[in-house]
Amino acid sequence: MLSRPTGPEGRLIVAIDTPTLARAEALAAQVGPFAGLLKLGLELFCAEGPPALGVLKARAPVFLDVKLHDIPNTVAGAVGSLLARRPDMLTIHAGGGPAMVAAARKAAEAAGPARPMILAVTVLTSMDEAALRATGVPDAAEKQVLRLARMAMESGADGLVCSPREVAAIRAGLGDAPGLVVPGIRPAGSAADDQSRTATPAEAVAAGADWIVVGRPITGAADPAGAARAIVASLAR
Ligand code: C5P
Repeated sequence: MLSRPTGPEGRLIVAIDTPTLARAEALAAQVGPFAGLLKLGLELFCAEGPPALGVLKARAPVFLDVKLHDIPNTVAGAVGSLLARRPDMLTIHAGGGPAMVAAARKAAEAAGPARPMILAVTVLTSMDEAALRATGVPDAAEKQVLRLARMAMESGADGLVCSPREVAAIRAGLGDAPGLVVPGIRPAGSAADDQSRTATPAEAVAAGADWIVVGRPITGAADPAGAARAIVASLAR
């Protein structure tokens, strides 16, 4: 399993959000040297399937962000099927419950010491409190995030995906145990796009993030490699 980075090197995860393998391959070649991992999400995975993993793995370790959520047996089967492609991080929904999280962890262990980190997603940041109530959750989002985070870690998750706003509360509530992967990052001066509650790379790491996920500020830049290099440099200051 990946070890958690201790310095600026390896903290940057670049989200390769594109539907075509050709574009993904070009981006991975440009930013791979500066990325701790490359994130392969649903857009590319649904378009190109598991071979996309191999294309990104040729450049850097891969964070496979497909947020698995099904009955434990099915999730275990999906994790087992993915192991052949050697993802380094893999997301599941904590909302699948303790047995599902445990099944994902157990299935991942079949890969031995090189197994993927199992990361749990708690409350999607697109869910506001009205949306939570509509799904039967009366509590504030932060309370639900902490409840799911604690349950996921107790059930065998290696870490969590969370927003910059949640990092400090998770560290306060759960300590150093979870590996924390944090999207919603915007370097100072770059466009927010559709992200509303952002932090800079350095702010997120100072709050307790182990890894930061950055997409469009890098992939949409005229010089993606330069943008990635500048983010890593900003963590060293
Ligand atoms: O382009 P941008 O930097 O906003 O990309 C961030 C990546 O992290 C995207 O792949 C997005 O789906 C993902 N993500 C996020 N916010 C979350 C969870 C995942 O932006 N709460």
